[in-house]
Amino acid sequence: MSSSTESATKPVRPVTLSSIQAKRRRGEKITMLTAYDYPTARLVDDAGVDLVLVGDSLGMEELGYATTLPVSMQEMLHHVKAVRRGTWRALLVADMPFLSYQVNDDEGVRNAGLLLKEGEANAVKIEGGVAVAPLVQRLVTIGIPVVGHIGFTPQSVNVLGWKVQGRTEKDVDRLKADALALQEAGAFAIVLELMPKMLAGELTKSIKIPTIGIGSGPLCSGQVLVTSDLIGLRQGDGGYRHVKKYADVSAVISQALAEFRREVESGLFPGDEQSID
Ligand code: KIV
Repeated sequence: MSSSTESATKPVRPVTLSSIQAKRRRGEKITMLTAYDYPTARLVDDAGVDLVLVGDSLGMEELGYATTLPVSMQEMLHHVKAVRRGTWRALLVADMPFLSYQVNDDEGVRNAGLLLKEGEANAVKIEGGVAVAPLVQRLVTIGIPVVGHIGFTPQSVNVLGWKVQGRTEKDVDRLKADALALQEAGAFAIVLELMPKMLAGELTKSIKIPTIGIGSGPLCSGQVLVTSDLIGLRQGDGGYRHVKKYADVSAVISQALAEFRREVESGLFPGDEQSID
């Protein structure tokens, strides 16, 4: 399948676990961006990004919740299906929402399975390290690829607070053990969120699978951002320190909407061009 003009003439070679691993071996940076809907998925896929993530940041970015905690499996599945329809080339990763895997591993297996079976995701992402390693191992054994996620894990915001992780020796030791446990369990990549860059670099060197950083500096094997942050979709948002705003889309949209209102009110729209004789 293809989505861009260029790819319409060339067969699309989909991103696979082995192509991700090969990029890491060659020292090429891996890219990952979020998408929650069909048009964004098409844009992200066409941009040649390696992995598309339907993150549970969906809760804040798309559904207006204050945290990721309220996101349900039903909501996640709905958005994963839309993103699947717009993703041809990139590897599609679906986040496991809060309480979809924490109660017991059987529930975790069922819910991860649904994200592949109904949502047609290629892989799931799970927050946690040592504690979720047995579940990760079970998922990988039955054919469900897993991305780990350690450091600041938003589903634990009520325990961790919104803050950088890995500042104390105890924390550093815990994160090292988490990264190793995920690798041993068979995760094919690990997201490192909000930690000092030297620690992220050390973790990246200590394992063979790629790390994908967010707010964790340049020494990771790749980078992930929330797409709405990097395109400036949220109005009046000051933004996070780790985000680079590559565009100011909310300003463009606001201008277009205000212009539409002015033109309708002044009788300029619709003009002859938009009217049928
Ligand atoms: O939910 C999300 O978007 C994420 C990324 C920030 C990695 O987990």
